[in-house]
Amino acid sequence: MRLLVIGGSVFLGHAFVTRALRRGDRVTTFNRGRSGTDVPGAEVVRGDRENDDDLRRLVEGRRWDAVIDTCGYVPRVAGRSARALSGHADAYLFVSSVHAYADWPERRVDESSALHPCPPDAGPDDDVPYNTLKAGCERAVETGFDGRVLILNPGLITGPREQVPRLTWWLNRIASGGPVLAPGDPGRAMQLVDARDIAEFGLARLAAGATGRFLVSGVPGNTTFGALLDDCVRVTGSAAVPTWVDDAFLLERGVAEWTELPMWAPGGPTMAGVWLPSSDQALRAGLRCRPVADTVQDTWAWIRDENVAAGRAAEGGQGIDPEKERRILAAWTEGGSHGAR
Ligand SMILES: NC(=O)c1ccc[n+]([C@@H]2O[C@H](COP(=O)([O-])OP(=O)(O)OC[C@H]3O[C@@H](n4cnc5c(N)ncnc54)[C@H](OP(=O)(O)O)[C@@H]3O)[C@@H](O)[C@H]2O)c1
Repeated sequence: MRLLVIGGSVFLGHAFVTRALRRGDRVTTFNRGRSGTDVPGAEVVRGDRENDDDLRRLVEGRRWDAVIDTCGYVPRVAGRSARALSGHADAYLFVSSVHAYADWPERRVDESSALHPCPPDAGPDDDVPYNTLKAGCERAVETGFDGRVLILNPGLITGPREQVPRLTWWLNRIASGGPVLAPGDPGRAMQLVDARDIAEFGLARLAAGATGRFLVSGVPGNTTFGALLDDCVRVTGSAAVPTWVDDAFLLERGVAEWTELPMWAPGGPTMAGVWLPSSDQALRAGLRCRPVADTVQDTWAWIRDENVAAGRAAEGGQGIDPEKERRILAAWTEGGSHGAR
């Protein structure tokens, strides 16, 4: 295939480009040259997707079998590129999110679940949250692009080049050793998906001429929080010991769910469906998910190879202050009756 990847220099976009080149596809990437690294072998066009002149320059004299858009966050912006690329590509793959579904994370969702209401022309000035905007972006691409549209709704994406440093934070935290504050129940089932597996699936679906939408969130229960942290201990070779502390104890001490201890979703109705999105349709269509242990191993290898600093997590709004972690661990252990699990 001849492919255009809007973005393509970080994480999921990078995985799409790398895998497409490996398949023998020809790839153009379009980005501003500000973040990440362009993949050698791709034709690089510099430009801003928010700038009509840059979009005109991009499409002049070029044609692709498909566009892969990994960085659409604002409906008005996504719609602009969908219109500009109409007539220059046959298909448009838009990377949305499980966030676009109105019932997530409260309930289990699948492809038939309702999306957030959001018009296709919503803009950055409309003060609409990320999840709602993603639903508007989907509508903007569906209405703006004249051709086949394929939408992917990923769940929580991990793997090498992770952008929001969640697994990266846990790996760096565990590598630094000592007692580690571990949240809730170690047996709590999760569902993670590797960026590289999403890319393989998206490319295969494009090659097959697919349209419509797929939730790509992995296999339910493909790890537990306990198994994930055990994998982190194993691959880092650390002597760190996870100390499992009850949800309620953490919430009472003001620990922010999801971010301060990344990926921690305490029990309760507001998060009841967080790890339950259904990828059944994608799995039937060929989505193959590698074991989470392999993702953890490869992510640690990337952290070491690229010298990814623990400080990056703070920039991504992830991770707990070490002093706060120490205080909570001390209070939990002093409580005596709990002990370490
Ligand atoms: N992380 C998760 O768990 C999760 C879960 C569900 C869905 N998702 C979705 O997955 C996608 C992640 O994509 P990603 O990893 O490829 O990262 P990304 O952060 O969405 O994309 C960044 C790429 O887009 C380029 N870019 C940004 N603004 C641009 C502009 N105005 N014009 C041209 N290029 C621009 C960047 O290069 P320059 O800065 O150099 O321009 C870079 O190559 C997102 O759509 C996200 O919503 C993520």
